[in-house]
Amino acid sequence: MTQDELKALVGQAALRYVVPGEIVGVGTGSTVNKFIDALATMKDRVPGAVSSSVASTERLRALGITVLDANEVDAISVYIDGADEIDHRGFMIKGGGAALTREKIVAAQSRRFICIADESKLVDKLGRFPVPVEVIPMAARRVTRQFAAMGGAAVLRMKDGQPLVTDNGQHILDVSGLQISDPLAFESDVNQWPGVVTVGVFAHQKAAVCLLGTADGVKTLGF
Ligand code: 5RP
Repeated sequence: MTQDELKALVGQAALRYVVPGEIVGVGTGSTVNKFIDALATMKDRVPGAVSSSVASTERLRALGITVLDANEVDAISVYIDGADEIDHRGFMIKGGGAALTREKIVAAQSRRFICIADESKLVDKLGRFPVPVEVIPMAARRVTRQFAAMGGAAVLRMKDGQPLVTDNGQHILDVSGLQISDPLAFESDVNQWPGVVTVGVFAHQKAAVCLLGTADGVKTLGF
């Protein structure tokens, strides 16, 4: 099976976690796009979605699914999103699609995080994928130096020759070379640095379940 087919498989499998009559939290990325397409088949039973990005909002609306503001909604029963890496404890690196801040907000508002991913995303230890960090632009150089002091190389993410601007009007640093042996401590630490909006380690908002697309079908990992 191709990676795209594995993504479609888990996107479809995630439907069984959607509670009819309840709002669903929706992440961002190519795997989530498959989920959104699948969700459209049961849109009459879904009163609405809280979205984690402009891109997902546009796709949801184009398929006739109502998108609600996070502030209009209390608790969300389930949040469905992909990951750039997920380990055997459900800790993740996210933000490859630059939507990490809103993803973390919707995940925090949701009771359960269901991660959908193809098997290439499962790792023993987080950190091979460069950690995305959303920063306020004026802090980028200082935050880069702070990462260098801990052995990380931060690179400003570019798009069309310009620094990428997130949905929140900020920039992204992609940090490679980090040893993340304690994801909870790492996330708490970096989040406190002045100018850091969000670090793309999801340890405090980890997955409850991962639907992993494999050549043998969908494996369900519980954490
Ligand atoms: C976006 C994300 C995505 O979930 C992550 O990048 C995985 O994307 P894809 O499903 O396209 O592989 O965190 O900010």
